[in-house]
Amino acid sequence: MSEENNFDLIIIGSGPGGYVAAIRGAQLGLKTAIVEKDENLGGTCLNVGCIPSKALLHSTEMYHFARHGAADHGIDLTNLSISIEKLMAKKSKTVDQLRNGVKHLMKANKIKVFSGLGSLAGGDKVSVRATGQNIDISGKHIVLATGSSTIELPFLKFDGETIVSSDQAIAFDKVPEKLAVVGAGAIGLELGSVWARLGSQVDVIEFLPAIAPTFDKDVSKMAERIFKKQGLNFHLNTKVTGLKKSKGKHVLTAEKGDKALEFEVDKVLVAVGRKPYTEGLGLDKVAITLDDKGRIPVDAHYKTSAEGIYAIGDVIPGPMLAHKAEEEAVACIERIAGQAGHVNYDVIPNVIYTEPEISSVGITEAIAKEQGIAIKTGKFNFAGNGRAIASDGTDGFVKVIADKSSDKLLGVQIIGKGASELIAAAVTHMEYGGSAEDIARTIHAHPTMSEAMKEAAMAVDGNSIHSA
Ligand code: NAI
Repeated sequence: MSEENNFDLIIIGSGPGGYVAAIRGAQLGLKTAIVEKDENLGGTCLNVGCIPSKALLHSTEMYHFARHGAADHGIDLTNLSISIEKLMAKKSKTVDQLRNGVKHLMKANKIKVFSGLGSLAGGDKVSVRATGQNIDISGKHIVLATGSSTIELPFLKFDGETIVSSDQAIAFDKVPEKLAVVGAGAIGLELGSVWARLGSQVDVIEFLPAIAPTFDKDVSKMAERIFKKQGLNFHLNTKVTGLKKSKGKHVLTAEKGDKALEFEVDKVLVAVGRKPYTEGLGLDKVAITLDDKGRIPVDAHYKTSAEGIYAIGDVIPGPMLAHKAEEEAVACIERIAGQAGHVNYDVIPNVIYTEPEISSVGITEAIAKEQGIAIKTGKFNFAGNGRAIASDGTDGFVKVIADKSSDKLLGVQIIGKGASELIAAAVTHMEYGGSAEDIARTIHAHPTMSEAMKEAAMAVDGNSIHSA
């Protein structure tokens, strides 16, 4: 093998895990290559996930405001219309800009990009297969960052037309009249909101008794109430059973207890989670066996069972979140380089970018109970916050969960406008092992939505100033 194809570090997969790992490797002086099978760098998050969905959420939020909120501000938008074609073009422009950004970062950091399917070929070898060519490269260290892919249900197999995944639901060319969404998690709620704002009749079918079930019960309840008002119809404790054709129409069948339900649909978005992606990766060549959920087992240093091979991101255990993958990327590479990288798994923020947004960090009240941790909680409604009142943001609240005796901050839950940004302060306090009182005694600018976090922290000890 020619010297130019020998690397210190090879990364397979160029999502937020992979490309960040490559950059960190290059920064630390490693001769680095990255292998990507898709046409563009950036993985799921940039190409068909976080970024395009946020672009659509932003555009449709403005449209929703124009239709339902503007008049209240004296803004007359008679003859309002929307072009789905232009909306999608705007989304694509955003994605393109970021794709170019990642490409530029690879070049700036002198990272060699190989286009093609990367698979382990035994030892330190990786073969890159692309149409018409096969290249073998070798790396002292190989990091698997192949991410995840959509999950279909056995009785609802994707056809790309009627039964779709998020990959297609970010790119419909017209507004489906009737959209059923299976799963009320992050994808279901975000994309359900997008199409409801554009005029679809949206039925969200969720297996569990709550929407956004990983969040605090109070948050889920309030979210359900608010999203219902926005036109999303929720069917909880409901199990989808299949799709049939009746009188030329598609009908989704479901069961709620012993009651059979039917939904006439134009499209069904299946959003019931994602699975680790290891297809064609050649794990058998290096004797790596997957766990019972199809994930690559790793140790605390992100080492797999094969010498010199590491794995990070959605393909290993833990929440499937871009920022978790990025953190693991940095920690993994720093450890390879002999440094002491570390990921604090207790302090990973989680966000659903609906309107209002939902965010959390740390444990919920329910988890504290389950784990027998004595807690105290403080809550503050945005309805008591001046900035929220001045900016139509009164829906929602901040809830702070602290250890009963030490006051250590254990978790924060937010539902409200800008919750994705507000949670960062809680994450920082928790990262430094802060207490509820630390937030309560931190000066927050007035008037800002962030004062609700301070007030919720004050409420932990019954000291909130603006609670009625
Ligand atoms: P999810 O795990 O967030 O939610 C799936 C939902 O589907 C759950 O509420 C589950 O109870 C429900 N469900 C499962 N099987 C069902 C069935 N047969 N019938 C009805 N309901 C069923 O998964 P989602 O939304 O597909 O997202 C996939 C991954 O991508 C997650 O790890 C998520 O965190 C991540 N993601 C994160 C986003 C963010 O950070 N804002 C946005 C989109 C995705």
